[in-house]
Amino acid sequence: MTVSTTPWWQHGIIYQIYPRSFLDSNGDGVGDLPGIVSKLDYLHWLGVDALWLSPIYPSPMADFGYDISNYTGVHPLFGTLEDLDTLLQQAHQRDLKVILDFVPNHTSDEHPWFQEARSSRTNEKRDWYIWHDPAPGGGPPNNWMSKFGGSAWQFDEHTGQYYMHLYDVKQPDLNWRHPKVRQAMYDALRFWLDRGVDGFRIDALEMLLKDEQLRDNPMNPQWKPGGRPSTRQLGRYTEDQPGLHEIVQEMRALADSYGQRLLIGELYLPIERLVQYYGELLDEVHLPFNFQLVTLPTWEARTIRQVVETYEAALPQGAWPNWVLGNHDRPRIATRVGREQARIAQMLLLTLRGTPTCYYGDELGMQNVPIPLELIHDPPGKEHPEHSRDPARTPMQWDSGPNAGFCLPGTEPWLPLAADYRQVNVAAEREDPHSLLALTRRLIELRRSSPALTTGSYHSIEGVPDGCFVYLRQSSSQRYLIALNFSGNEQTVKLPEMGHGRIVLSTYLDREEPIDLARLRLRSDEGSVIELAHL
Ligand code: GLC
Repeated sequence: MTVSTTPWWQHGIIYQIYPRSFLDSNGDGVGDLPGIVSKLDYLHWLGVDALWLSPIYPSPMADFGYDISNYTGVHPLFGTLEDLDTLLQQAHQRDLKVILDFVPNHTSDEHPWFQEARSSRTNEKRDWYIWHDPAPGGGPPNNWMSKFGGSAWQFDEHTGQYYMHLYDVKQPDLNWRHPKVRQAMYDALRFWLDRGVDGFRIDALEMLLKDEQLRDNPMNPQWKPGGRPSTRQLGRYTEDQPGLHEIVQEMRALADSYGQRLLIGELYLPIERLVQYYGELLDEVHLPFNFQLVTLPTWEARTIRQVVETYEAALPQGAWPNWVLGNHDRPRIATRVGREQARIAQMLLLTLRGTPTCYYGDELGMQNVPIPLELIHDPPGKEHPEHSRDPARTPMQWDSGPNAGFCLPGTEPWLPLAADYRQVNVAAEREDPHSLLALTRRLIELRRSSPALTTGSYHSIEGVPDGCFVYLRQSSSQRYLIALNFSGNEQTVKLPEMGHGRIVLSTYLDREEPIDLARLRLRSDEGSVIELAHL
């Protein structure tokens, strides 16, 4: 396979934008669509192929856009439908695809559907949501918990029943067993596909169906007080339920009827169940998001190698892999692994086999920003500040000027800026040939121009020092060895059988030189991409 014959989403790189935090063009402290349009040249320069935007729809913003009150509009904070059309047109002109977020599991409680549903037990939209009588002795119908903490059931005084919400109380779950719900949601997909969007990232996909018998979920025996509320209970009866694959097939058939459009599924599932969402006939999502690098217990060569091997081995025939380092729900990679290892992390992400998804700002080494209690916005963060997702959602750092160039001087950004933004920003890093931005761009350039790195095979190499992970990427015309030192000590990799090669990129950005693989010295936290002679 060569780059040109594979679909774009296999050889492309996806960049996630959290629209509130990318660029504020109109002085309200919140990023918007015209702001994104004004930065398309940056994204084109960086070399990514597609933008995935977290939700831009009308929403009361109880969960920052993941609580939608109209699936076919644009929130005035972000702009207008015309702005979205401009974004599509301007992005396409630069050969950039645009992926929207699709949130099918729940609406906002302010969505007209829910307003109708809660108006009376006999309303024709009542069954569009999940309602139930109180348990025989009173109280919620079962023990299901919200991912944000507390019961997943909320009593509605007016109609005397509980409604279900796996997230915030303002996010009632839709009843996907109802054919009209499916049709309404598919109409929303068509609305955007007709406008020219290139695909969707589907939110909380594993949750769409719930056990009809409402059986209690088991509690997670490994959970400890202080742990993330979302992991307190196991989702045996609320996740990955029978019937879900058929729904995903329906979504895929719809997307396919528009030609090459991409479906990405957000699915926090163990690998063996995750990969089932490619579909037996590869007729479900193109990319079930692979969060192994986001949920890793430790950042160590051995663990990472094991994760990569297990994932590669679990992939069904013909399924295309993908990797994610960070997103708007998890702590930033540079905070999790430190500044030095953040460079290794980028090299790993951009040289593994499979489509990489980059979270905005990670290319700069943006860190989690401590948010004072009174400024916490995130709903689970209000209850449990240590689990707030706000620190990973702060404004993009564009330059060293006021408000990091995110919003006009004198405007208050919706979340505080990082203290280090005068050093860690696009303008400064563009000028610095050794910056993480420079490294990321070089990695992207190398990946894009190399069939071995985009679509080539992957094999890990045995017999390397403990702190290192070394693997080979190979196409019919090229071979690259990637050698990553996950430790803070110098390591020597000895692979005499590999002969000689040439370092084409080091994470230190200071050497491009021929080397003898009998003795490859890796400095602390150093990673290298080495071109080998073709066999
Ligand atoms: C997904 C989103 C997250 C949101 C939740 C509910 O996990 O990534 O941000 O809070 O779904 O929609």
